Amino acid sequence: MKNNINTLVIHGGISEDKNTGALSIPIYQATTFRQLELGKNKGYEYGRSGNPTREALEALIRDLEEGYSGFAFASGLAAITTTLLLFKSRDKILISKNVYGGTFRILDQVFSNFDIKYEIVDTTDINKVDKIFKKDKNIKAIILESPANPLLTITDIKAISCIAKKYDALTIVDNTFMTPYLQKPLTLGADIVIHSGTKYLGGHTDVICGLAVVKDKNLSEKLKFLHNAVGSILEPFDSWLLMRGIKTLAVRLDRHLENADYVAKFLENVKGIKKVFYPGLKSFEGYEINKKQAKGAGGMISFLLSQDYDIKIFYKSVKLIALAESLGGVESLISHPATMTHASIPYNIRQKIGITDNLVRLSVGIEDKKDIVNDLEKALKKAYKK
Ligand SMILES: Cc1ncc(COP(=O)(O)O)c(C=O)c1O
Repeated sequence: MKNNINTLVIHGGISEDKNTGALSIPIYQATTFRQLELGKNKGYEYGRSGNPTREALEALIRDLEEGYSGFAFASGLAAITTTLLLFKSRDKILISKNVYGGTFRILDQVFSNFDIKYEIVDTTDINKVDKIFKKDKNIKAIILESPANPLLTITDIKAISCIAKKYDALTIVDNTFMTPYLQKPLTLGADIVIHSGTKYLGGHTDVICGLAVVKDKNLSEKLKFLHNAVGSILEPFDSWLLMRGIKTLAVRLDRHLENADYVAKFLENVKGIKKVFYPGLKSFEGYEINKKQAKGAGGMISFLLSQDYDIKIFYKSVKLIALAESLGGVESLISHPATMTHASIPYNIRQKIGITDNLVRLSVGIEDKKDIVNDLEKALKKAYKK
């Protein structure tokens, strides 16, 4: 019988060093490995092509996402960029409306130089996505996040994967906000899952890393080639840090969920907060779909402050919650998408996709939930204009 994910985060992949029995996989800080004779080695030859510590992490994420193989990258963006190298000139890639700013930037400013095109689509409108695919046979993939950053928009992963498959295109899901503890896109029909492991998987705000998991052998061979050819690999120490983080993923996420639910319900009742974006609220548009495809709503909340508040004073007044980029760590963080995570998206596009200047994004940590709310309450009071 397959182990439950609570067990897999601790015992999945290669959880024990085969040479020593060490229960924490050692950091094999080695760039090269002695070969037995010409053409014969012990499974490793050069650190970029393969390293036992990185391999253990790759096996772990493969097991957690229920894929064919996993790959560990130097950052989430390195995972995204290397995956995009699967495509060639004249191919077109669809991206969901609230995709991470860096994903947009690499397509808009780098891959466009190689004639790889992109189009922003509303992945919540399934019929429209179908029509867009139908119109252009150069569309080779769709990249989406659910919940998407920063409006937490929910996309029906199964429905989109089904359409993409019909047109022979790949579905690539950035699962950073959910992690396999809450959602497994490959089991919903996606072909590739990507992570910024920097966030919930690492969980301790101390390692930049990325992961990709593919569904089948064919994609695995292609990505394995690119991983080595590009050299976008994760170092052994960082691989170890990520494995250590993943061991507590289940318990951390349970607390993130509990706290986010509490904070979202508090925010929903604050007069002067115009809208709360949280997939765990019954009033939220994607609530039912998220419930169907994920085990929880995650730890991210966004909200719109009304003009009754001075936004600058609000950001300056939070104390326990740190004003900082990133998300998914044990500590609560607050950010301003328009000038921080999504600053690389031009102003007019930001307005069009709802990333306005009064939008606040909160990564709810695992501190005491009452302390988090207390901090928000005080900051809101200070920022109130009347
Ligand atoms: C959803 C999402 N994907 C990818 C990335 C990029 O990851 P990294 O910062 O590890 O390169 C981020 C970073 O914020 C993200 O939020």
